Formats: sequence, C-alpha cells, structure tokens
Amino acid sequence: MDLGPAAFPVAEQTVTVIESAPVGRRYHRILLDAPELSARSRPGQFFHLLCRDGAGNGPYLRRPMSIWRCGAGQPLGFLLHVKGKGTAALARLRAGEAVSVVGPLGRGFTLEPSWRRILILARGVGLATLAPLTGAAAAMGIAVEAVLSARAPQDLMAEEFAGTSGAQVMPVFDADGSSDPARVEALLRERFDDARPDAVFTCGSNRLFLLLQRLSAEYGMAGQVALEQQMGCGLGMCFCCVRQIRDAEGGVINLRVCTEGPVFDLQAALAW
Ligand SMILES: Cc1cc2nc3c(=O)[nH]c(=O)nc-3n(C[C@H](O)[C@H](O)[C@H](O)COP(=O)(O)OP(=O)(O)OC[C@H]3O[C@@H](n4cnc5c(N)ncnc54)[C@H](O)[C@@H]3O)c2cc1C
Ligand code: FES
Repeated sequence: MDLGPAAFPVAEQTVTVIESAPVGRRYHRILLDAPELSARSRPGQFFHLLCRDGAGNGPYLRRPMSIWRCGAGQPLGFLLHVKGKGTAALARLRAGEAVSVVGPLGRGFTLEPSWRRILILARGVGLATLAPLTGAAAAMGIAVEAVLSARAPQDLMAEEFAGTSGAQVMPVFDADGSSDPARVEALLRERFDDARPDAVFTCGSNRLFLLLQRLSAEYGMAGQVALEQQMGCGLGMCFCCVRQIRDAEGGVINLRVCTEGPVFDLQAALAW
C-alpha cells in the first residue's frame, strides 16, 4: 500500500493552533485544527510552515516539518527540535493563534499488506518523522519494533513516538554508551537473527542510516530512509534540496528531497 503519493495540488492555508507545549528539554509539539489536511496526510510526508509567532516575528523562508500526528478526526501535529529562529518562533505560538501551512508535500513511506513485522531505527527528532508509521502499521496488523536513540533518558520521547500503537520500543542512550554504533549493530543483529523483519526504516542519523543500509543488504531486507535537506520552495522548483541517489543502473543522480522524497529506498540513498 502506497502511504505517500506526491501530494499535488497543494495550497497555502492559514489554520489555528489548538495546542502548543514543550516536550522535554529541547522539543516542542504543536497541534493544528486542520481536519481536511490531517485526513489527507500520510506518514513520511511533510508541511512547509511559515514560522511566525503571534506578533509576526520569524524568518522569511518557510521550514519543512514532518507530519508527526495525522488522520481522519485527528489534529495535524508537528514535533519540533527547537534549534534556530524558525522553530523558536513556532514554539512561541499559543492556542488560538494562526499559522500558515503548505502541504502535505512529498512522498511518504510505503507499507506492503503482506508484511508482518517491521523494525524502525530513529535518532533524535527523526522519531517525529517515523512516529506516524507505527499507527499505520498497527492498523494493517504489522508489528513494530523500534530502536530509539537519544542523548539521555529524558530526551527519549518514547510516548510521543509510539502513542497507543503498541510498538515495542528499545531505547539506547549516549549517556550510558548503549547508542554507540557497534552496540546498536549487536542489538540489531540479535533482533534480525531472532526474527528477521520484512522491512526496516530509519531517519535522523547519518551513522545509523549507514549501519542499517549495510545490515539490510546483508540480511536481504527491504528498507526506506527519510532524508533531510535544507529547502527553499518546498515545491520542486528551486532544486536547492537535491541529494545524491543511486539510479536503477547504478549511476548517481540528483533528486529533490521535497518532491521525489523525503522517503527514498534505503539502498538507493547515499550518505551525507
Ligand atoms: C522533510 C523534512 C522534515 C523535517 N522534519 C522535522 C521535524 O519533524 N522536526 C524538526 O524539528 N525538524 C525537522 N526538519 C528539520 C528542520 O526543517 C530544520 O531544522 C529547520 O531549518 C529548523 O529551522 P530553524 O529556523 O529553527 O533553524 P535554522 O536556523 O534553519 O537552522 C539551525 C541549524 O540547523 C541547520 N539545518 C537546518 N536545516 C537543516 C537540515 N534540513 N539538515 C541539516 N541541518 C539543517 C542549519 O544549517 C543551522 O546550523 C525537517 C527537515 C526536512 C527537510
Ligand atoms: S526545496 Fe525547492 S526544489 Fe526542493
């Protein structure tokens, strides 16, 4: 089942903030009243958000944000790592204030109906991108195991990731060394030797992407990666978001993360 068709036509819309709240030490969630957009959104797609606070302060260019929460009857949600002017302006928004959104954009994740188990490997705010996959998989009867990597237990956001999906979360941390790639590799090999998943998914770390790419080739598993790139238009026109991807003949081509991505085949994507 294709969970993320290229989503045109799209239009700029102004929607209302329902909730805006900090999550842990450096993250923030915002929920928007946008029922039609939320119902149309698919895991792995993103919105281009105008990052202006209630007083109109914020950068000129929009910022891409993965869809963290979506679905019929659900608010449209985003989980932000507050790191620069744009995310800081979004984090200053309060319930009742307005935000301009463009989306849903890009190609999202694909889940095959024949799959029974998938494994997700996420680092930091990459879990926001992968979170809606847990609910989509649960709805299709696909079991989810997730290795979530974070600096410390207080940064993990396991609840924000799994919600009520029943995904089995295995946390690893910088603080105790368990997130070291060699130890994550040992953990993954243990899981794959025990019961090989039908597919693997990742977002949020170049090192973990390379590790999962290597292991998925070795174990013969399908895989998908959600890539990030700084964006201008978000609509496929400016080409500032290209990343190098292997084509079917083994050559390397430049594809736009905003339009041909952000989700790519794990073996086709090249490290950054
Ligand atoms: C498809 C997509 C989905 C994303 N989803 C999320 C999300 O769900 N939550 C979230 O918090 N962030 C997400 N991001 C990243 C987010 O768009 C950027 O971090 C954004 O630039 C932050 O804006 P800012 O003004 O706060 O920081 P900026 O001032 O723009 O950037 C702060 C620092 O981060 C660097 N940076 C900015 N964008 C990127 C990037 N794409 N890749 C690597 N480094 C970058 C800048 O060079 C700078 O050093 C996503 C990006 C893409 C492309
Ligand atoms: S951001 Fe302009 S083409 Fe992708």
